Parts: sequence; C-alpha cells; structure tokens
Amino acid sequence: MCGIVGYIGNKDVKEIILSGLEKLEYRGYDSAGLAMINKDGMHIFKDKGRIFNLRKIVNNDVESTLGIGHTRWATHGVPNKINSHPHQSSSKRFTLVHNGVIENDDVLKYEYLSKVKFESDTDTEVIVQLIQKFVEDGEPVDLAIRHTMSEIHGSYALAILDKEDNNTIYAAKNKSPLLVGIGEGFNMIGSDAMAMINHTDNFYELHDKEFVKITKDNVEIYTIYGNKIQREPYKAEIDATDIEKGTYPHYMLKEIEEQPFVIRRIMANYKDENGNLHIDEEVLQAVKQCDKVYIIACGTSYHAGLVGKHFLENIAGKHTEVIISSEFVYNTPLLSGKPLFLFISQSGETADSRAVLVKVKEMGYTTLTLTNVKGSTLSREADYTLLLHAGPEIAVASTKAYTAQMAVLAILATLVSNNINIDLMKEFAILANVMETLCDNKDIYDKLAYQYLKDSRSCFYIGRHIDYYVCLEAALKLKEISYIQTEGFAAGELKHGTIALIEKGTPVIAIITQECINLNTRSNIKEVKARGAASIVISTKKLSAETDEIIMNDVHGLLTPIASVIPTQLLAYYAALHKGCDIDKPRNLAKSVTVE
Ligand code: M6R
Repeated sequence: MCGIVGYIGNKDVKEIILSGLEKLEYRGYDSAGLAMINKDGMHIFKDKGRIFNLRKIVNNDVESTLGIGHTRWATHGVPNKINSHPHQSSSKRFTLVHNGVIENDDVLKYEYLSKVKFESDTDTEVIVQLIQKFVEDGEPVDLAIRHTMSEIHGSYALAILDKEDNNTIYAAKNKSPLLVGIGEGFNMIGSDAMAMINHTDNFYELHDKEFVKITKDNVEIYTIYGNKIQREPYKAEIDATDIEKGTYPHYMLKEIEEQPFVIRRIMANYKDENGNLHIDEEVLQAVKQCDKVYIIACGTSYHAGLVGKHFLENIAGKHTEVIISSEFVYNTPLLSGKPLFLFISQSGETADSRAVLVKVKEMGYTTLTLTNVKGSTLSREADYTLLLHAGPEIAVASTKAYTAQMAVLAILATLVSNNINIDLMKEFAILANVMETLCDNKDIYDKLAYQYLKDSRSCFYIGRHIDYYVCLEAALKLKEISYIQTEGFAAGELKHGTIALIEKGTPVIAIITQECINLNTRSNIKEVKARGAASIVISTKKLSAETDEIIMNDVHGLLTPIASVIPTQLLAYYAALHKGCDIDKPRNLAKSVTVE
C-alpha cells in the first residue's frame, strides 16, 4: 500500500527519493509525489500514475538536500493529482505525507477546522491542517505535532516538513510501519527498509505513538508525551541485490523459480550443528503446551494456514483452527482453554492480522508469528517468531512466501510431534528437486495458458483433501494477476450447485496428488467434461493417467502442496502474460495491506 521515503543530508535529494519510491512500487499504488525544500522555499510535484510519470514532471533544476516522497494507494478520494501526497496546510508552511487511515477526520474537521477550506478529499489533509492550527494557537512545532497525534484516531506513518526549518524532517507513527535509516552525514525515513537499503542497512525501528526529529547528523525519538527514548539501532539483513529483477522479465517469474532454492535455504536455517531439524525449544514448548492452535492469516497466507492445519493435526496431533484475520476481530469464535495464536504473514505488516494480535495479547494469550520479514510489526509484537527465509518477495502475487510458509509449518509440526516417522530433511531434498523440474518445463504452462485461459472469462480449480487447499491458492493466483474470474472448489461440491456455471469450453483444472481421492476427483472431471468443460489435470507420477496434461514427480504425500502449486503459479503467470496484464503490479492490489 502507500509508501514513504524521506532524506536529509548533503546529496541532491531528487534521485534518492525517486529511486527509493521505485523500490516501494511493489507495494501497490496509484499516485506518487515528492516535496523538497531549498533556499527558494518548498517545491512539490505530484500526480496520479506511476513513478515514471512523476520523474517526467519533477523539475530537475530544483536542487535540494531535504525532501519527502510518497506513493499513494487511494482510500479517501479517487486517485488524482489533488488527492496525491504530499499535502499542505492552508498557509503552505507544513507539508506532509501519510500512510494509514484517520478514522475521525470528519469529527476533527467539525471540532477544530470548520473555517478551513480543504482542497482534497483525503483524511490526510486534516492532519496537516491540525498541525498548522495548533502552531497558530501558539504551540511550538514539535508540541503541535504531538498534540495532533493525540487527536487523530487510526493508523498513521507521517513524514512532515516545515518550510521555516530546512534542517529537520519530523515523523510520527501509529500502527503503520515506519523506520529511520541511519547514515554518515545523512539520515532517512521510510515505510520499508527496501526504500533505503541502497544507502544504509542500519535502522531504528519506531513504535506506536512515537514522534521523531531527524536532522542530517542526529535522530531523536520521543514518546507522544515528549519524553526522549534511547534505542539501539539494528542491522537489516537484506541484500540489495535480492531486490533486483536481474534478467527476468518479471519479479513473479524470478520468485517462482527461486522456490527450490528457498526450500534448501529453509533446510539450512532450521537445522542444528548435527544436521537435525531444529526450532527454538521455547517455541516448541509453547506449541506443545497449548490445547489448540488458532492460525490467523489473510489471502495466500490463509491458504498456507489451511495446509498448516493439516500438518499440525496429521503430523503433530494438535487441534488447529484456521481463521481469516478480518473475521476474527468482530466474530471471535468460542476459544479453547489454552490456545496459541499462530499468525502467518509474509510481510508481517498486515493490518487485519495485527488487529487480531492486539486483541489476543490483551486477552493474555501466547502468540507466534511466521513471517518473511525480520523486525516486522507482527514479529516484534508477538511472543515468538519463526522466519521464512524466502528472501524479499516483490511481486504482489505471493509465490515463494507461500511455499516457504508451508515448509516451515511442516518442520514445526514434525518437531512438535513426538513420534512421527518422516525424515523431513531427505523429503525436502527430494521436494526441492521436483520443484526445480516443474520450473524447468515452462513451455507446457505457456501453451496451456494460451490455449485454455487467455480468452476465458471464468475458470475453476477442483480438488479434494489437501489438493483442495492448493486449488484455493491456485484460483487466487489466477484471478489476481490475469483478472479471470476463478473459483477454487472442493471437487465433490461442484455438483451441489456450481456445476450450473460450466459451459462449453469453461476451463476446469483438477489437482490430484492423494491416492485416496484419485478416483473420486477423476469422476468429477468426467462430470464437468460431459457438460462441455475443457479440463486440465495436474497429477503425480504415481497417480497419473496417460492423458494428464501436467505430471509431477512424486514427493512425500504430506508435502505435495509445496510442489503442486508451482504449475498453477506458472499457469497464472502465462495467462496474465498472454493477456498483457501488469503481472508484478496487478490493478487495485497492494503488496502489504496496512489498512483494515
Ligand atoms: O503479508 P501477508 O502474508 O499478511 O499478506 C496477506 C495477503 O494480503 C496476501 O497473501 C495476498 O493475498 C497476496 N496478494 C496473494 O498473492
């Protein structure tokens, strides 16, 4: 979703901010803007559209060493130039960029700002007008910002410039992520380490309701009450080259191909000095001692959670329930006596999941986060963290994080179990090879996508047992990047209503990896074919029929979802490619969904 990057130092700020914003493009946005201060005053450039549009309108003659930039994902008001950030107060003294959502903007307008003429439809403009009002009332700037923080309700990461002070960036945070990047002779602010990683790997994390003053040589962090906070910086473990696309046409393809390597990296990170699988004993005890695991997640992570439930129940014998984050907060199920909450989130920043974390922490329950981002909000705030080690995932459509989530869940379930008889290290090694072979044969997905999906308006994935969970993920992948209306269905359920939608040529893709459901799913394929469907079958070698379109080599029966999803990711990729879609940045979507 929205992204922030700011810089204060000795270098010209334009390129630093523009390339920082480009690093945040993966999060999804519809408008972009930049504000810079120099001796001539404040210079603002903004418009709807991509960063390359912003590059065209930025005046290269403006020289400045202090600026803030923003990518906006519209929540209040349509994507247009006026609603793009930065926003200014009426006097033009204060300029700010904002990530998040202010929930009481209307109340504040009525209470404090009834005489102010608002230019935009955004909630953000209320913040900057409020700062100006409190300054006009006689408050010093830092007090006015902290006062504003105490009045606004909701989520915010803010970077603020004062035209009368060209030595400072002010920043504030609540719920939305924000980091300070520390350098020699410069400092930065950003909503994501990736925006700053080409300049520094040294960061201060900011906590909710904190206020920061940043100059080129100094960073001061305060509570909302003005008390100074001492904090140790941390080093981000991101390799700047990890976030480059290299020779790949799209990040998504790169990330799909990285999956076998990610499995090998997970094996390396979750083993002890004797080469045995290993997870911190405290984490294992927490899971062992609970009477039920509640998995909380959204989207693709939720689909990994469904497979995780299968692992935890079938390998470890642990009762597990999987709940969509946004449903849990307002429709909390009856909980067991000693629950453990397991949050699955690639980004570790998803607002819906965080709302649950805050709630269950207040209830006093144990929490564990499974995330790809060390130091992310969900990681920091949970009792325990398990990392995915998938490397930065840039494409909006999640691929390698999904397979990594399932792999780490398999390790967790195996180590929680007292008597399971799987040599997971050996099985993972086989799995990584099978995944590699699936990635190698791309022609087949390209051809099938061209023949069956390119011109389709709708599509179905069908499967039973754990194949059904993969169907849900496969359907999400296809619809989010190719915009083909796709449903993942329990194969046996189709005949209870949805089969009415099958027409001549409707693609129905079946996944078959489990012996116990092989024949049933094949009967369901016959049923849809009899009604005109064009079927594609993805099966394992052991269960394959000669006519199956995609046959994968055999892996351990429990681990099939980690491999069988790859053909579906590649089918989605090639369908989107043939349709000419923006694969890495699908319309309306954001990588990190930081609003509820
Ligand atoms: O960062 P998270 O795993 O918490 O994100 C959850 C979903 O927003 C995410 O998986 C989304 O569904 C992806 N676009 C799927 O490709």
